[in-house]
Amino acid sequence: MPDTMKALILQGDGYATERPEDTALAAMEPFVQLGQLAVPEPGEDQVRVRVALASVNPSDEMFIQGLYGQPRIRGNAAGFEGVGMVVASGGGPVADGLLGRRVAFVAAAGAPGTWSECSIADAALCIPLIDDVRDEDGAGMIVNPLTALAMFDIVKKDGAKAFVLSAGASQLSKLLIGAAAEEDYRPIAIVRRDSQVGPLESLGAAHVLNSEADDFDRQLSAVLREEKPRVFLDAVANQVSASVFTAMGRRARWVIYGKLDTEAPTLLEPGQLIFMMKQIEGFWLVRWMQETAAADKRAAIEAAQSRFASGAWRTDVTAVLSLEEAMTHLPAELAKPNGKVFLKP
Ligand SMILES: NC(=O)c1ccc[n+]([C@@H]2O[C@H](COP(=O)([O-])OP(=O)(O)OC[C@H]3O[C@@H](n4cnc5c(N)ncnc54)[C@H](OP(=O)(O)O)[C@@H]3O)[C@@H](O)[C@H]2O)c1
Repeated sequence: MPDTMKALILQGDGYATERPEDTALAAMEPFVQLGQLAVPEPGEDQVRVRVALASVNPSDEMFIQGLYGQPRIRGNAAGFEGVGMVVASGGGPVADGLLGRRVAFVAAAGAPGTWSECSIADAALCIPLIDDVRDEDGAGMIVNPLTALAMFDIVKKDGAKAFVLSAGASQLSKLLIGAAAEEDYRPIAIVRRDSQVGPLESLGAAHVLNSEADDFDRQLSAVLREEKPRVFLDAVANQVSASVFTAMGRRARWVIYGKLDTEAPTLLEPGQLIFMMKQIEGFWLVRWMQETAAADKRAAIEAAQSRFASGAWRTDVTAVLSLEEAMTHLPAELAKPNGKVFLKP
């Protein structure tokens, strides 16, 4: 193993001091630069992973710009999630047992991330993969699938069969729609492109509404009257989201788990929180990981892996880029709809 490795290295430290008008990534250079880092050594109960493929999630886009819920460390490699081979153990039975295994993993806190040739993971949080799982699915096996399953659990526990979800054509929403339809739940997906209506209906959405359509408000009211959803899973959090929440019935829950739009929503009828027992809350996988019993987490991880292995879930791929290509092409590839971009260090 050489002493140094290629990585996309964070240029900023901590959090951004100002929120930009548009959070979509416009250029890489202000936030990450291609460079060399020392190959990291795993600590006890950790492993070093030779990264095969790394995800580029909206959380990565926000993180490198200093807009995510965790501070940046200048000089460290970016990238939360990936798949690769375990090539070194820092000691401990779980870590030693992973040597030579292909694992899905999230980079350990403070360690070089997955946008580099090697990363470090806590052994307990690595998922050894069976051969039937493609690298493209393994690289996105944790963040979106576990969030989709955890939020589907919120829907199930709440009781109503119908639920609303924004950013309906996101990878996460597609996983959620597929899993929910299999159990006869009725997802009501909101998108902003007509071309996404048909594919999401085929996947199992009971209704797909385009928020850009002239008669969106009328269509939404009709669907809400018919389906009576209680939970709104929202990754956009803009004024359309606030209107959807306002139009929903008694005891509606607005669960915000992403902020894809920079628009600050205005709550149109705050009295609904008092008189209609409506609620606004957040969901963050990091908190779910901390608060959920180990057996429930294991069950969710196994469910995600078997869904990918069986083909019930499949990650749509827009592009696979080298670290060099990422510096020039990543913003443009991320701007394309309907698939994920991966990095191959
Ligand atoms: N809270 C958590 O723990 C957690 C965990 C995982 C993911 N997430 C969040 O889940 C969301 C989806 O993640 P993903 O990886 O599945 O995303 P993705 O596949 O990259 O898709 C992003 C989707 O968001 C839509 N979108 C982007 N900007 C929008 C805007 N201004 N208005 C309306 N729609 C917009 C896009 O619509 P078009 O197709 O029209 O371009 C696209 O369908 C992200 O917000 C992510 O941060 C949260």
